[in-house]
Amino acid sequence: MYFTKFPHRSNFSFVEQFDAASNRLKAGSREFDAVVSSYEGGITHIQVRHPKVWGDNRCLEALAVPSTASETSLEVGGEFELSVKGSKGQTLFTGRFGVSGEASMFCFAPAEEARYYGMGEKTFGKLELSGYRSKFWNTDVWGDFHFAQWGENPTDPPYFSLPYLIAEIEGEYVGFLLHNPYPTFMETPGTDEARVFVEWQRTAPDLILGSEGGEPNLWILTGPTLRELTQKLQKLVGVTPVPPAWALGYHQSRWGYGGHDDLLELDRQFTDHKIPCDSLWLDLDYMDGFRIFQTSEQMFPQGAAVTAAELAKTGRRIVPIIDPGVKFEPGYAVYDDGHKNQIFCLNAEGKEFVGMVWPGETVFPDFSEKKARTWWSGYVRKFAESGFGACWLDMNDPSTGPVDPQGMFFGGGKVPHSAYHNQYALGMQMATHDGFLKARPKERPFMLSRSGYIGSSKHAAIWTGDNLSNYFYLKISIPTSVNLSISGLPFNGPDIGGFGDSVTDDLMVDWVKANFLFPFFRNHCAKTGRNQEPFAFAVPVMTILRRYIRLRYKLMPYLYNLFIEQELSGDPILRPLIYEFEESGPRGQDDQFLVGPSILQAPFVEEKAKIRTVWLPGVEPWFDAESGDWEAAGELSVKNDRTGTPLYIRAGAMIPMQAGTPTDNTKNFSDVNIHVFVPTGWSGDSTLNYRADDGISFEYQQGARSAIDVELASVDGNLALNWKQTASGFGEIKPTFVIHGDPKSVRLNGGSVKLISGKVVLTGRTLKVSVVS
Ligand code: GLC
Repeated sequence: MYFTKFPHRSNFSFVEQFDAASNRLKAGSREFDAVVSSYEGGITHIQVRHPKVWGDNRCLEALAVPSTASETSLEVGGEFELSVKGSKGQTLFTGRFGVSGEASMFCFAPAEEARYYGMGEKTFGKLELSGYRSKFWNTDVWGDFHFAQWGENPTDPPYFSLPYLIAEIEGEYVGFLLHNPYPTFMETPGTDEARVFVEWQRTAPDLILGSEGGEPNLWILTGPTLRELTQKLQKLVGVTPVPPAWALGYHQSRWGYGGHDDLLELDRQFTDHKIPCDSLWLDLDYMDGFRIFQTSEQMFPQGAAVTAAELAKTGRRIVPIIDPGVKFEPGYAVYDDGHKNQIFCLNAEGKEFVGMVWPGETVFPDFSEKKARTWWSGYVRKFAESGFGACWLDMNDPSTGPVDPQGMFFGGGKVPHSAYHNQYALGMQMATHDGFLKARPKERPFMLSRSGYIGSSKHAAIWTGDNLSNYFYLKISIPTSVNLSISGLPFNGPDIGGFGDSVTDDLMVDWVKANFLFPFFRNHCAKTGRNQEPFAFAVPVMTILRRYIRLRYKLMPYLYNLFIEQELSGDPILRPLIYEFEESGPRGQDDQFLVGPSILQAPFVEEKAKIRTVWLPGVEPWFDAESGDWEAAGELSVKNDRTGTPLYIRAGAMIPMQAGTPTDNTKNFSDVNIHVFVPTGWSGDSTLNYRADDGISFEYQQGARSAIDVELASVDGNLALNWKQTASGFGEIKPTFVIHGDPKSVRLNGGSVKLISGKVVLTGRTLKVSVVS
């Protein structure tokens, strides 16, 4: 497997004959069956079959395929030319299909210059991915690349494979999903000529979507808008069920925390410093000699349940790491049991495949098999019952250290590695999910995973793997997480502060400001670097870090509702500006993003930057959360100041927040403050559907969720707010309206109201507001 070499189209035979009546096509000397199916919403599936060449793709998770449709957005011509149609029937792409041995390739010529985005987890540092070649093969980046490569450069491919590409063409959006777990690749037109110094650096003029093996299965989705496209994709690959609310809190991790004593000390520090924190994470050190499912007695002399009970008093959970590799050690109960039940992957000689991970020689459960998943979920169940609130799945790329993973076979040694490599983490997630559900059937499970594949969105949050404490990794955190979010994996985030090396005060401050509203928010670092907990910094720095952690908790009702919306509609939490605004302004906005529909962040991500340019899209003014001023749409220059961060709120937005300044992890979704942002003299309207539930159980699925609908209408600064409770399964929701702006008059549900003046701090100064309840 070469990470940086790609099949070339000249080595492929493209279809020369196609018989539409029998669906037979001929490419080179071979014949294939083509199955083209159309589904609701302008979704098409192209499957090319040849049982001897490919067999079945063995996908562990099926797609949620919509109903079939008679209308299609793909026309198939006489020689199997594939015409992708836009909303007005215009041709956006013309494609052809080719084969080369087991490899296959779709080439699509765009009708006009297109822009490309998505590709799941990529670390190129760009939102727009035109002019790139990229592979999809889960790697253990620090194990598989030389350290000189990952210092301040993108390494490709990284941990997580999501072979999905978005094309923006003629003002419309088209998505291409390769549902093929074998190593896949993509090449996008639009080479940046400044980067070319030899001819082969130029990418092909056509869009290329291919696979080195496995049955070709291409799904084409049409928008026309990015929002509609993303909603369709997310429903197809699986929405993320709304997580337990605590999983949206601040998480504290470090490779080096041991057990009971460390956790209680951390707990005390968070309480003393009044910093909200929902969970404390344990890395390898809690285990007995890297043996999974075996907790060190030294670290937990009275058992983890005693520690968990202590931490429950402050509402914090313990989240331990679990690697898939089982120490290859006869006499170790987990190994003996797995060996007896034949659940491990085999090598070419039919013996257990051995790799080298933390415990040294290691064997690997065969997660492709139901039997092994059931075996694993039994261990997870006991593990969860021993006091652990959730878990963190690492090294599931799978990492085999210096040993070539291609020697690891699945299905009793009969199935080649490539069939399940990219799905290994997915199988582990499915089994772990099941174990947690068995241990606590009434609680929404939460797990974090490093690697994954299409379908992982249903089971796990992911973090973007090992990064370093430097500005390169801070900077790329934005396009990486935003592209993941529009590629079908909404619950994601990086190691805040950086994993390797030592973070500086400035970098930590910049990192927390930039990522504090990311869907997943965990401070994690390696053993060797300086301590990164907020209270490990001097008081002035700690105070800034704490301000943003608290602000996340203040905004928890907004964030939680974005996750609810995501489960219902498929909209991601992080969005590029083009998600909400047609006119997205200058190209290359890799350092700006939206959190939901209403919050725009443009953080400082360059070392020692004193000033930056911010692009505020649309035509309406934006509320500067630091100064309380309204800024006109368009470009503006912003100065860096130590405590604030460029964060803007859309005119007319209604943002649900917790009251006051949260100092612990309490989440009150019922007594909600709805902050209303109205420019002076504004005319316009907006709506908010706000929902509240218990934040932990599945009862919301049986109606235990309350909702209110709020309507805002403003005419020349005369405001009318109307709200009503539309669902009461979780009791009464009591909104208090907090108005930012200077309205001429305010009416609430038709009656005039008394405005009480109040004060609020968001990112900077104390802001004056009018409170209506
Ligand atoms: C891997 C993980 C990292 C973890 C370390 C030790 O490098 O990516 O997060 O701390 O292993 O378990």
